[in-house]
Amino acid sequence: MFNLNEFFQNVEIDINNAKKIEDLDQIRIKCLGKKGILTNYIKGLKILSFEEKRKNSVLVNKIKKSIFLKINRKYKTLEQIILNQRIQNESIDVSLPGRRIQNGFVHPITHTINDIKNFFFKIGFQSVNSLEIEDEYHNFDALNIPKNHPARDTHDTFWFDDNRLLRTQTSSVQIRVMKQRKPPIRLIFPGKVYRNDYDPTHTPMFHQIEGLIVEKNINFSNLKWIIYCFLNDLFNNTVSIKFRPSYFPFTTPSAEVDIISHSGKKLEILGCGMVHPVILSNMKIDSKRYAACAFGIGVERITMLRYGITDIRSLFENDIRFLKQFKQ
Ligand code: DAH
Repeated sequence: MFNLNEFFQNVEIDINNAKKIEDLDQIRIKCLGKKGILTNYIKGLKILSFEEKRKNSVLVNKIKKSIFLKINRKYKTLEQIILNQRIQNESIDVSLPGRRIQNGFVHPITHTINDIKNFFFKIGFQSVNSLEIEDEYHNFDALNIPKNHPARDTHDTFWFDDNRLLRTQTSSVQIRVMKQRKPPIRLIFPGKVYRNDYDPTHTPMFHQIEGLIVEKNINFSNLKWIIYCFLNDLFNNTVSIKFRPSYFPFTTPSAEVDIISHSGKKLEILGCGMVHPVILSNMKIDSKRYAACAFGIGVERITMLRYGITDIRSLFENDIRFLKQFKQ
């Protein structure tokens, strides 16, 4: 005759001896599973007398519950043992140097562009971006540079076809803006420009920031004052500034501005002038009521001067050792 108490004692021993989670699972299935020993035992009680059935049912349910609790308790103990073993095996060598994440930083060109923009924002300018792929009309014709004009030779243009090109100057945005907006206009247009040139002072892509003011009483003295304030702000009054008469087809009078650093180094950094009345009337702006002045700043030149960089190409070689020097 099957002895419940004896059975329970044996199961208890098995639970105590279990070394793995799988051993416990097997015991559970063997005793408590659908086809387990205790389940079958309960089924067998049917044939007993009412009194016997009641007595045995109480006992078997008590045993079932204890087995269940004991398995669970052992389960937790085994889990803890396994975890401790894993922690021991996977111990971390805290003396190993960590892998550091390198922080990025702002490129010196972007830094200069931001500083220039901030100055002009302070004196009421807004910034506008425009297309880098331009057509001949906006890049040349509308700026008073017709075909065969010698000024075209200085722009070694990348052409896509007879009409489309990579813009050689941000001055093209002047035309787009004057076509779209009514005066007063006080804007800057930062952006990339392209010319087929490559040596220590030229790269095929470089940056310009163009400025345009169209107002009723704007004149050359105003333009000169703005440029002076801008350069003194950017260089903290440490450079001397020289205006030199020059020629651009789209401005008259025109000037170029040189900066002479304290080491005596002279660098041409921008062109400027009063927008040619022909251009204003082509843009349907009444040149008797309104005047316009413009300037185009060379961002790379200014960056080189600020940081003492001698070869413009090093700005675009992406050598992290070079760029790191300008971390701020
Ligand atoms: N677009 C000229 C260049 O790339 C620079 C320039 C000169 C811009 C005079 C101007 C200006 O707005 O008035 O060489």
